Amino acid sequence: MSHETYPSPDDHSPQTLERLCNALDAAFAQSADAADPSQRAAFALSVRTALAEAAADPALLAPAQREGSVESYRRHLLAADPHGRYAIAALVWMPGQVSPVHAHRTWCGYAVLDGAMSETVYEWNESRQRASETRSHPRASGAVSFVRAGHGGIHRLGNTGDAAAVSLHIYGVEGAQIGTHVNDLLEVADHAQPVVEPAVA
Ligand SMILES: [Fe+2]
Repeated sequence: MSHETYPSPDDHSPQTLERLCNALDAAFAQSADAADPSQRAAFALSVRTALAEAAADPALLAPAQREGSVESYRRHLLAADPHGRYAIAALVWMPGQVSPVHAHRTWCGYAVLDGAMSETVYEWNESRQRASETRSHPRASGAVSFVRAGHGGIHRLGNTGDAAAVSLHIYGVEGAQIGTHVNDLLEVADHAQPVVEPAVA
């Protein structure tokens, strides 16, 4: 079964996206005996490696897939596994645009393709039912991350640079669920969580 991809007419490097899909398929095959492959260290490593390899190709995205929006960071769905195991998207962040603070309902990974991004990490306080900020660090082009589902991977991503930033994301959901079944928005301790739109990061 071929992968369902969403190239624009000027897509000029579809083979890199296909290689990424093939690498993810191989990662699932490698952990075929696992009830939850994302719990396997080998799976996480394979996803990180596949992200890094795809991010190294400057022709991964077509120009239309690098278009942002002044209203919010913008998501471009790039590919979806026909078996519903993962979906791949590019996110375009204009200067100052940030995600909400969120945990994830599924495993996910990302790589920064262009720009100067920042990631703030939070820990979950079960008794207070709030997330508390623990650290923030720059995420420059080439940075790669993988997190499992749950409150162990709470973060907020944003573009702290003065030019558009682009990141590549893989989520463990089918393509149609990417906007609804990934982010778990959380309350943040000590200050009110701003109202945010429901896009994913
Ligand atoms: Fe996230």
